[in-house]
Amino acid sequence: MIDKAIVIYWSKTGNTELVAEAIYEALKEQNIDVDFKEVQEADDVDYFDYELVCIGCPSYQWSPPEEMDVFLKKKQEQFGDQIELKSPKRPDKNVVVFCTYSGPHTGKNEAIPVVKYVGQFFEHLGFNILNEIYVLSEHHGSKKVSTEGRMGDIRGLPREEDLQKIKQRVKDKI
Ligand SMILES: Cc1cc2nc3c(=O)[nH]c(=O)nc-3n(C[C@H](O)[C@H](O)[C@H](O)COP(=O)(O)O)c2cc1C
Repeated sequence: MIDKAIVIYWSKTGNTELVAEAIYEALKEQNIDVDFKEVQEADDVDYFDYELVCIGCPSYQWSPPEEMDVFLKKKQEQFGDQIELKSPKRPDKNVVVFCTYSGPHTGKNEAIPVVKYVGQFFEHLGFNILNEIYVLSEHHGSKKVSTEGRMGDIRGLPREEDLQKIKQRVKDKI
């Protein structure tokens, strides 16, 4: 049963922010009490205050951007004493990890390491990974990357219909 959730994200050009907002709306529509924070303002967040943490960022060189990495490691230090061998699952502690990516070279494989890496910070704490969301998104800095990469013409992504699908996926999982 999820009563309280938080969405934490980092976004430079707005794609991840759109996804974060869609997830926030989906949770709100399920009458869940949801907090919404950019990583920069999430230092004082206690993961254990929530039944569901939704956390996301873009793929930068198939890794999380430095700001997200620094945040995750700071939190790991803060909650390090809660990590037990075998990482036993904690009932009612869940995480949804989301990542936006452009995949110009190897497609979704450029986002998979990000989602797996971010998820590990939570699975180590005993959180259940409820969902992993990969969102193909325009690379706003480069028309070439957005039109000639492996994923073809990705300009305008994510579109409204993609965001609606994400909302539905989140609702289906909770
Ligand atoms: C510095 C930089 C590095 C990036 N590296 C990758 C990458 O390795 N793989 C990939 O799929 N997309 C890469 N991208 C594209 C972003 O992941 C994608 O556009 C993302 O949706 C941006 O998110 P934002 O709008 O929330 O900042 C990169 C973008 C930038 C600006």
